[in-house]
Amino acid sequence: MKVAIVGAGRAGGALALALREAGYEIAGIASRSMESARRLAELVGTEDYSDRPEVLVPSGDLVVLSVPDGVVPSVCARIAERGGFRRGQVVAHLSGALPSDVLSPAKEAGAYVLSMHPIQTLAEPETGARRLKGSYFTLEGDPEAVGVGRRLVEDMGGRALELPKGTKVLYHAALCVASNYFVALVDAAVGLLRAAGVEPDEGLKAVLPLLLGTLENLRELGLPHSLTGPIVRGDAGTVRAHLRALSEEVPEFLELYRTLGMYTLKVALRAGLDEKAAKEISALL
Ligand SMILES: NC(=O)c1ccc[n+]([C@@H]2O[C@H](COP(=O)([O-])OP(=O)(O)OC[C@H]3O[C@@H](n4cnc5c(N)ncnc54)[C@H](OP(=O)(O)O)[C@@H]3O)[C@@H](O)[C@H]2O)c1
Repeated sequence: MKVAIVGAGRAGGALALALREAGYEIAGIASRSMESARRLAELVGTEDYSDRPEVLVPSGDLVVLSVPDGVVPSVCARIAERGGFRRGQVVAHLSGALPSDVLSPAKEAGAYVLSMHPIQTLAEPETGARRLKGSYFTLEGDPEAVGVGRRLVEDMGGRALELPKGTKVLYHAALCVASNYFVALVDAAVGLLRAAGVEPDEGLKAVLPLLLGTLENLRELGLPHSLTGPIVRGDAGTVRAHLRALSEEVPEFLELYRTLGMYTLKVALRAGLDEKAAKEISALL
């Protein structure tokens, strides 16, 4: 299967390399600038590159639009207007938030459409391609295209996750909570440590082993049994002391502590915390 890539950025580069390593032929690379297209074409060893996607797209059995979410519909529409798509092609985008429907101009030209979202953070081609091995890819779209996507993902050493139509936005919100809010939460912890007298650089270094240990627990013990700490122990005295210190020293963190504490309480109940202790902590929070 020949693959044409449109958008020689972070995700396009990682995917192009991962697909080449999986034995796929990269038919060509198109991008907005000739320079990006040429650089990625050299990296994956193809001589075909262009700043006019419609010229390269017809050579791909699979066309991947790895352009920013905001321009996926317009790039797709422009290629269709210029007669770039052909019957039987699979046309995919990589966005986590957009459904496959935004590729309707390709579908009208007879292509099968696919949304193929790698659940991974891709900063540049080489490390990105390595990370894609073992990552989940979420597939949604025409059944013919989902079948092709599943094979592609397996060949790259990834895992496929299929999503029912209409749930893409909720799905994307979930991943924002997992990744973006996680970063924000670490920032809050570092801010609290600073209030306790620890410099931010040192604070991040100090919590990293704790975070890695927590992630390992999540991998090995799963949910809800990875939860440790005062709430799941039913230690209301410690929670009371936290609340007092926060309201005296850093009241701007109180709401976050309370909100997350209430959610932690739900997880703790699932992990076996008794109702009486939960009620006491809930009242404090
Ligand atoms: N990076 C990630 O971690 C990640 C993870 C999962 C999914 N994704 C998805 O992957 C897609 C691409 O994201 P990215 O992070 O790779 O973005 P990116 O690094 O900014 O790359 C986007 C590329 O698209 C090209 N481009 C922009 N407008 C274009 C146009 N009108 N026609 C042709 N090419 C155009 C840019 O070209 P020039 O360089 O030539 O200017 C750039 O190389 C998005 O849908 C994103 O949601 C990204």
